[in-house]
Amino acid sequence: MTDLSFTVEPGGSLHGCVRVPGDKSISHRAIMFGALAEGVTMITGFLDGEDCLATLRAFRAMGVRIDGSEQGQVTVHGVGLHGLHAPIGPLDMGNSGTSMRLMSGILAGQAFDTVLTGDASLNRRPMRRITEPLTQMGAWVETTERGSAPLRIHGSQRLVGMDYRMSVASAQVKSCLLLAGLYAEGVTRVTEPAPTRDHTERMLEGFGYGLRREGERTVAVTGGGRLTATAIDVPADISSAAFFLVGASIAPSSDLTLKHVGVNPTRTGVIDILRLMGADIEVLNLRWAGGEAVADLRVRYAPLRGIRIPEALVPLAIDEFPTLFIAAACATGETVLTGAAELRVKESDRIQVMADGLTTLGIVAKPTADGVEIQGGRLTGGTVESHGDHRIAMSFAMAGLRASDLIQVRDCANVNTSFPGFVPFAHNAGLTITAPGTA
Ligand code: S3P
Repeated sequence: MTDLSFTVEPGGSLHGCVRVPGDKSISHRAIMFGALAEGVTMITGFLDGEDCLATLRAFRAMGVRIDGSEQGQVTVHGVGLHGLHAPIGPLDMGNSGTSMRLMSGILAGQAFDTVLTGDASLNRRPMRRITEPLTQMGAWVETTERGSAPLRIHGSQRLVGMDYRMSVASAQVKSCLLLAGLYAEGVTRVTEPAPTRDHTERMLEGFGYGLRREGERTVAVTGGGRLTATAIDVPADISSAAFFLVGASIAPSSDLTLKHVGVNPTRTGVIDILRLMGADIEVLNLRWAGGEAVADLRVRYAPLRGIRIPEALVPLAIDEFPTLFIAAACATGETVLTGAAELRVKESDRIQVMADGLTTLGIVAKPTADGVEIQGGRLTGGTVESHGDHRIAMSFAMAGLRASDLIQVRDCANVNTSFPGFVPFAHNAGLTITAPGTA
């Protein structure tokens, strides 16, 4: 799994009208809510990536019949909130933090024990941010001594709702606690330090489960309700579109339209940040699909300038920083990011790994405790390490559009977690990229 490399020829531009694969966050949740609902949930536009498939397989292992995915169509035969069965062995969440953190909330409320494990990256990531509040609700979850997975979740515990103030702005923590709240007595109220993606809240409402939003940062659910199956149309993932928003912005003469992209306002920080840098992005045909805002995004080349990124936008663009750092490397002047320490505990330490790769490509990039300072410059060629992080791999692939020489990106197999078919897709749009066995 570790020897897949991308080779990107320098130059080129991006053109056409394309649709990137389905939204990862929404696809995970569609499987989870569909499984716990009463009735049959039909999903279209599902992301067939390894992360969402880990969620799908876990529910199958707990006795849920799930048909597909066939070209993004999945049918989930819901078993109700109390219809899951004990799996035979540990549930393998692969590389997927979303699967592990959200499912912990669900599994804390079951009548059986489960073990959740993942790959080396996932088993290094911090889990106390969920196990501590779950414990306060009455759950019993064991971690390693470092507070990481494998997680052993003991069933048949009595969960009681609580008021919880999160210390990190994390939709995964918020969602975990809301899901546990479905199984808890009374009200579970979660307050976040800053607004994060709200797909869980929207989908709960879509499945007919009442919740209360109290201002911008607090949400509350009452346990003991039921979920009713519904149809879910998953929009294209703005986090996957982001590589192309940046690619077309930095490559002269580009003109690219990305179709049917989810533009939930808790996800559009990447558009705001690129526009502050001078990017030319039009939001067209804004419409509504199953509780989520959707639009077509037209992006044309524009010279970019360095900026100080407003901290309020950080949680709204949390997955897009690797590719935004490539934009910063191609901008005039300095870009400064602060308030983004979370980037150090993603699939890799995205601050360090991006700074290392940019340095290899001739850019001055200084990591700080909670961000980075990048001087715009000229990208050379070279070999960069993705450390198995899908978003790092795709970001450095886009850098080829402005590099003076060949770029090789190593350890790219995990691109399949979020963007299966990335290589032919990017090639089609105008990037001269190859990878053995994938294009
Ligand atoms: C996600 C939330 C984010 C994001 C991840 C998906 C989700 O994580 O980085 O890729 O689907 O809830 P945090 O909420 O931990 O920042």
